[in-house]
Formats: sequence, C-alpha cells, structure tokens
Amino acid sequence: MTPQAFRVSRASSQFGAEEAFVYLAKSLELKKKGVDVISFGIGQPDFQPPPHVLAEAKKAMDEGFNGYGPSLGMPELREKIADFVSQEYGTDVKPEEVAVTVGAKSAIFIGMITLLEPGDEVIIPDPSYPLYESVARYIGAKPVFLRLHRDNNYKITFPEIEKLVTDKTKMIVLNYPENPVGTTIDRRDIEEIVDFASKKGIVILSDEIYDHFVYEKKHFSTLQTANWRETVYYVNGFSKTFAMTGWRLGYVITNKDLVSKLSVVANNIYSCPVTFEQIAAARALDYGLDWFKEILEGYKRRRDLIYQELLSIKGVRTVKPEGAFYIFPDFTQVIKEKGLKNERELVDRLLYEKGVVTLPGTAFPKDGGINHLRFSFAVPENAIREGIKRIKEWVES
Ligand SMILES: Cc1ncc(COP(=O)(O)O)c(C=O)c1O
Repeated sequence: MTPQAFRVSRASSQFGAEEAFVYLAKSLELKKKGVDVISFGIGQPDFQPPPHVLAEAKKAMDEGFNGYGPSLGMPELREKIADFVSQEYGTDVKPEEVAVTVGAKSAIFIGMITLLEPGDEVIIPDPSYPLYESVARYIGAKPVFLRLHRDNNYKITFPEIEKLVTDKTKMIVLNYPENPVGTTIDRRDIEEIVDFASKKGIVILSDEIYDHFVYEKKHFSTLQTANWRETVYYVNGFSKTFAMTGWRLGYVITNKDLVSKLSVVANNIYSCPVTFEQIAAARALDYGLDWFKEILEGYKRRRDLIYQELLSIKGVRTVKPEGAFYIFPDFTQVIKEKGLKNERELVDRLLYEKGVVTLPGTAFPKDGGINHLRFSFAVPENAIREGIKRIKEWVES
C-alpha cells in the first residue's frame, strides 16, 4: 500500500501511460528470457543517425559544449532550424520564432500547459498519439474527440472540425502524417482549418514530426499557410527523420511573442535542452537530407510489403498509410472468430504465444482503436514477413 504521504495529486493521476513504452518493457523481458521477439511496437526508426551527426556530437563535447545553455535553445540551432524549415517549405521562419525543446513531447507539453485553462475544449483526433489527451486532462481541459473513419481513409476534413467547434474551443490538435493511422491532411483542408482558426482565435497545435516520411506527395505544412503566425503552434524534432529518439531534441515554431513566454515554462521544467547535442544538430542541418532519400525508399517498400502481408490474413482490413511508419489494421473479424474479449487480449496472445509485439488500438487513445492493432513498420522486410507469418499461423490455427 502506498503510504498516505505519497498519495499522488489529482492532476498527475490524469496522465495516461504511453503504452508503447509498456510493451517495450515487456518485449525486452521476453528477449532476456531468450524468446525470438519480432517487434512492431514502439515507433522508432531502425537506422542510426547519420555518421556526420555522431561525429559532430563527439566534437562538440570535446570543444566544451557541456554546460547550461539558453532555455529556448542555442542561437546557432534556432537559426539553422529557421533556415532549414524555410527552405523545406518555401516560407520565411525567423530564429526568434523557433524554440528548441527536449523532444517533440516536451514541445507539446509546454505548449499545452502554457496555452490551456481548465475547462477549455481541445479537439483531438481519435485515434491519435496519446499524449494530447493525457496533457489536456492533466490541465483540466476537456478533450473533444474527432473520430476518424476508415471509409474515409481516416482523413480529417475542415467541415468535420468546424462541426465540433464551440465557444469553449481553445485548441485543435492536428498530427499529419498521423500516428497511428499514417494518413495526411489535404492541402485545401489545412488552409481552411488555419484560416478558420485564426479568425476564431483558436490555436492549431500541428504536430508534423513525420513530415519527411511521406510516400507519394510532398508534405504541405501549416507553416505554408498565410496566417500561421496568428494561430499555429508547429511541432517537429530530430527523433524520427534523424533517428535520434534517445537524444530528446525537438522544436516549436510559432508566433515570436509566444516563443518568449515558452522560455519561462521551459526553464522551470528542464532549464535547457542538451547543449552539445544542439551544436551537433545545428551542424547536421548543413549536410541537408540527401542521405535520407534512400531511407525513405526503403520505408516505402516496407509500407507496401506490410500492407500486402496484412491483407493476406483472413478477416483483416486496413488502409494503406500515406505517411509515417505505422499501419492500423482492423482485426474485428479475427477477434470475433477466435472468441477473444478484445484487441488487448489479441495483443497479449500474439506476444506470449508467438513472440510478436503489436500495440492495442485503444492505446491511441480511445474508441477509434477498438478491435485494431498498431504496427510500426520501422523494421526490416524479412522481420515483417516473419512477423506476419507468425500472426497468420496463429489466426489460422
Ligand atoms: C505524433 C508524435 N508526436 C510526438 C512524438 C514524440 O517525439 P519525441 O521523441 O521527439 O519526443 C511521437 C513519438 O512517437 C509521435 O508519434
């Protein structure tokens, strides 16, 4: 029993666990016991950061970048991010509109706690990355879920958002390409949403961390819209494109007055992002992204493969993701035919009987994931084949 003194606060008990990390721990335990585990669980790239980034990090440490830095990030990196993003999207971001953060996660956290009041409504897609709901509840804000539908390829459209807006709406969360469904949002909808939000005084928290993992079209960013400075809180980072998940380096781009307010919040939580990493990241941006082209080709092949393989399992239905590295198949028929309680039982059975890690759709974060599983396809093609073969054997047994 927890002693009386350690009863946790109402606010902190609103946090949900990010279940990808729970299953990561379970899969590590199984691996330790000698099980040959195939993991479609946690969403992290399976390549290493480019060698030039690693070399620059070691150099920056040797050069003495080991102390505290400014809370909003090293000026070198804020400048480089502004240039990089401006070039990528053909826009004109200024360094004072950039804040470097400890991963995209803290960019989301500090943005939400800076902007939201208890009682504010936050429109959040369902399914979506669980952090948005978790932080909204921590603050006492009210998540209003925008249910995404397979029939519509999980697309978010402006009219659907508009229908959910009330006079209490303070924030609309967009994440595209989306975790967990891999969908993007059409340019026209983005433009309409941003225009509408700027007129209504609503913040768009636009999490575009998968902007480079887009398989057919080029990503259209909220930063390419006319009114972004009035309404957009853009989130990105080095975790996915640069495979630097463990470095915890993210960034925000938004109105410069808001950036200066973030400084105090960031300072109270973590003082500053890691200094030598920022120097390495700043220098890494000079190398461009040519090295990434081949990686994207490989991820596209994996996307095509896992899509085909999943469809070959009897009773499974799924949408082909346009971006990110996730796929979100519907196992309703399998769950019914096998007499399982729900997708959570399916996840556990596949894990403990076949050594295959997947995540329950309801971890993202609600009803949109009932009877669905999330697969990360940031795994080699042979592991995709083997993993799906095991699932098929289990389903057909
Ligand atoms: C949609 C989305 N946003 C943010 C993050 C967090 O990224 P970071 O590792 O930079 O904190 C993730 C990680 O999986 C994600 O999927």
